[in-house]
Amino acid sequence: MPHDPGFPDKAVLAGAWANLAALGARPGASDIRALFAADPKRAQRYSATLDDLTIDYSKTSIDDAAREALIGLTRAAGLSLFRDRLFAGARVNETEGRAAMHMALRSGPHGGLTADTDAGPEDASTLASIELGKMQAFVTAVHDGSIRGATGLAFTHVLNIGIGGSDLGPAMATEALTLSHGPKIITRFLSNVDGNGLAALTRDLNPATTLVLVASKTFTTQETAENAQAARAWLVAALGDAAVAEHFVALSTNRTAVAAFGIRPERVFGFRDWVGGRFSLWSPVGLSIALAAGWPAFQGMLDGAAAMDSHFRAAPFASNLPVLLALAGIWHVNACGTRAHCVLAYDDRLRRFPAFLQQLEMESNGKSTGLDGQTVTQATCPVVFGEPGTNAQHSFMQLVHQGTSVIPVDFVLAANAEQDDRPQAHRILAAHAFAQAEALLRGRALAEVEAEMRERGASPAEIAAVAPHRVFSGNRPSITILFDRLDAFSLGRLIALYEHKVAVQGCLWGINSFDQWGVELGKALAGGLLPDLAPGAEPSGSHDPSTNALIARFRALRGES
Ligand code: F6P
Repeated sequence: MPHDPGFPDKAVLAGAWANLAALGARPGASDIRALFAADPKRAQRYSATLDDLTIDYSKTSIDDAAREALIGLTRAAGLSLFRDRLFAGARVNETEGRAAMHMALRSGPHGGLTADTDAGPEDASTLASIELGKMQAFVTAVHDGSIRGATGLAFTHVLNIGIGGSDLGPAMATEALTLSHGPKIITRFLSNVDGNGLAALTRDLNPATTLVLVASKTFTTQETAENAQAARAWLVAALGDAAVAEHFVALSTNRTAVAAFGIRPERVFGFRDWVGGRFSLWSPVGLSIALAAGWPAFQGMLDGAAAMDSHFRAAPFASNLPVLLALAGIWHVNACGTRAHCVLAYDDRLRRFPAFLQQLEMESNGKSTGLDGQTVTQATCPVVFGEPGTNAQHSFMQLVHQGTSVIPVDFVLAANAEQDDRPQAHRILAAHAFAQAEALLRGRALAEVEAEMRERGASPAEIAAVAPHRVFSGNRPSITILFDRLDAFSLGRLIALYEHKVAVQGCLWGINSFDQWGVELGKALAGGLLPDLAPGAEPSGSHDPSTNALIARFRALRGES
């Protein structure tokens, strides 16, 4: 199913965007409270479900006309064709000439998903399953002690070295799952090349019982390479060179570079380049998750993601959860003009979820060149940020409620907690989640504040001075994502929900969600700049004046000028 460069029709697409903008500009278009007042069934009519999972987008300013226009946009942009091409393994990552076939990692061996490659179509489902089978055997052997360290001791700790997609997804999922499923092995994540990271993480680690995973799709990432060498030196200092073979594992597509590092072939778990870094936690890059939470939990996560894949692939757009989530985002950015997006997961185990989403959304869709090579004419990915609720309420939610920018919020909440011994704590948590969304919608008018202050006996002067500060505009949009409980299955489903949301938005914005050229320039300049920081080196003076001056100051402060 090749890409037709003549599609989508530019005029039709421009019309769909213009329609959306016009709807966003209607007088009173952002009055969400009025929409509720006019439609007693709004909460139901603007919600969609998949089993226990509900997405309620009624607290947005999307009305019937807007929803129709958004669905019209999916038609004009060819979303249906894009989805077919994605699942057919077409090279939707056009600038890198690759498919985006992370769905094969969770499809099972008979998933029938293929990926188009230079060597022809690959049976992606089978290839992925073979590698996952090897991972499972390895995980089992580490857990039952049949694979041990060089001194014969069983592994008690895992140190995962990776960055970006080779860190954020695994770290997020490991944290989300280990309270209920382990930890089978204590797993730590080293990403930053800042030496303090390795020092802090290895301070109380015993090299003899530590398994080191070097996770890097390319195996060329400078930070990971430097950290891997440092970890190797730490291990060799204690156990000798021969121990590397027993203690190091590589998770990568680049077997040649892995071999050069000295990791033996049986300890390499590979995947193909049709798995993007930020979509790779389902691949061997997720080995840390399986080691920490156990294989059944990892498999549960894959199954949850597969359930979302099936839904995304088959459901009509008007009831398709990733599509609706994407369309709500498009409405906010492109019709309402918002430029930031907040995600509040009311679950401490999802502490790293916003950090994961930051890469997923912003590295995928933080782009201004369209697939046609032209500068896009509409805004694309907003700034994504978040924190666990309720913590966020005691930090930046002030701005979300009363700041000068409107920032749509995703509230993510499970109805049931794992800590059944504290049901009241979970009810308090849920009360705060619902109340935040309600407060954003409802707001508080000046007259209401004044009446309340009068009732409390405040003087007219006090009322005049304070009441305006206690006003909330309301009509601030949010989406609530509610499900039964956070377990491996629902975690996988939640992650896949956002993965597909991102792909849908990329299609509608006409950009490639699967490349990341924007990270290249900084990497290249760092390579060129490093020699200027070497002790005794003659400064090249080849940078801009500010950078030259900062380099000189840096070297002076280190006594290396
Ligand atoms: O620099 C960005 C990036 O390429 C991400 O896309 C990727 O997840 C990360 O670096 C790490 O890359 P690798 O897994 O190849 O080390």
